[in-house]
Amino acid sequence: MSAKFRSVVRGVGACLPERVVSNAELAARIDTSDEWIAQRTGIRQRHVAGEGETTVTLGTRAASRALARAGLQPAEIDLIIVATSTPDHTFPASATEIQAALGITQGVAFDLQAVCSGFVFGVTTADKFLASGSHKRALVIGAETFSRILDWQDRTTCVLFGDGAGAMVLEAVEGGDKGVITSKLRSDGRHRAKLYVDGGPSTTQTVGHLRMEGKEVFKHAVGMVTDVIKACFEDAGVSAQDIDWFVPHQANRRIIDASADKLGIARDKVVITVDRHGNTSAASIPLALDVAVSDGRIKPGDLVMIEAMGGGFTWGAALIRW
Ligand code: UT7
Repeated sequence: MSAKFRSVVRGVGACLPERVVSNAELAARIDTSDEWIAQRTGIRQRHVAGEGETTVTLGTRAASRALARAGLQPAEIDLIIVATSTPDHTFPASATEIQAALGITQGVAFDLQAVCSGFVFGVTTADKFLASGSHKRALVIGAETFSRILDWQDRTTCVLFGDGAGAMVLEAVEGGDKGVITSKLRSDGRHRAKLYVDGGPSTTQTVGHLRMEGKEVFKHAVGMVTDVIKACFEDAGVSAQDIDWFVPHQANRRIIDASADKLGIARDKVVITVDRHGNTSAASIPLALDVAVSDGRIKPGDLVMIEAMGGGFTWGAALIRW
């Protein structure tokens, strides 16, 4: 049964912390090198939140910019979904904090936790609300300050991540061919031990630190994301050649290249920001979308595939006609 409303992208926005940390700066602090990080991951630098910069402040700025791009007022938003694993507080949700910071008093706001897949899960969730007709305009925000849950002595993880936020405004539109065409979400909790945080309110009463068996995650990543992307292709009746832009989660350049190659997506259609941003978890896709919209690559009418895989494991993909 096809839905009455399509979730159409009205605008995207982003916000990165001011401070940039290069690989060389990390190499001066821990036993690593620019060469190792760049070769194994494609990362050359990342942004790191400073004093006064939090998931909520970065997310609020990204959302304001997305609203400005959309030409909408905060009062026109009735759904806010914030994908984050690094909320400002255990509760309330960062979504309600951002709602208040934007001066929005109507509608509903909640956080969604799917780690690096959070933005794809958020877009899919918002799409269900909008397609049903229950809500009219959504802000989907991916906002993270992973620098605050990293073990800065663990070179196998601390060189990989960065901070930032990105946002997308979606509007329910009747008819037309634009908007979220299809999406596929998956999760499998048996993989918990490969990527997790070793603390939390109900266990250690601490925030904890990120722990990852990088090689194990890598091994699963390409197969998982290509499976959900192929399912989207099948659902939509399109092929890799029809895609204008492939905007993957930015964890590792080698994972991105291998996924694009396996799917037959040309390398010049792949949006890469991992070199500048590192892995910003749920923020990486909207940050990359913002870059590719701002520099004129993504244009109205383009077919855009987003995908991600992360802790849980969770993974998913969504196909959007811009
Ligand atoms: O966003 C959520 C999803 N996360 C991911 O997608 C991450 C997936 N995993 C990866 O991206 C890669 O597995 C890593 C980048 C984390 C690691 O790359 P790898 O090619 O799998 O390297 P490795 O873990 O096998 O480590 C190779 C060597 C080891 O030394 P030995 O045992 O061969 O002597 C590590 O100790 O590299 C060493 N190493 C480092 N050396 C310099 C590990 N981290 C570093 C480092 N600097 N930062």
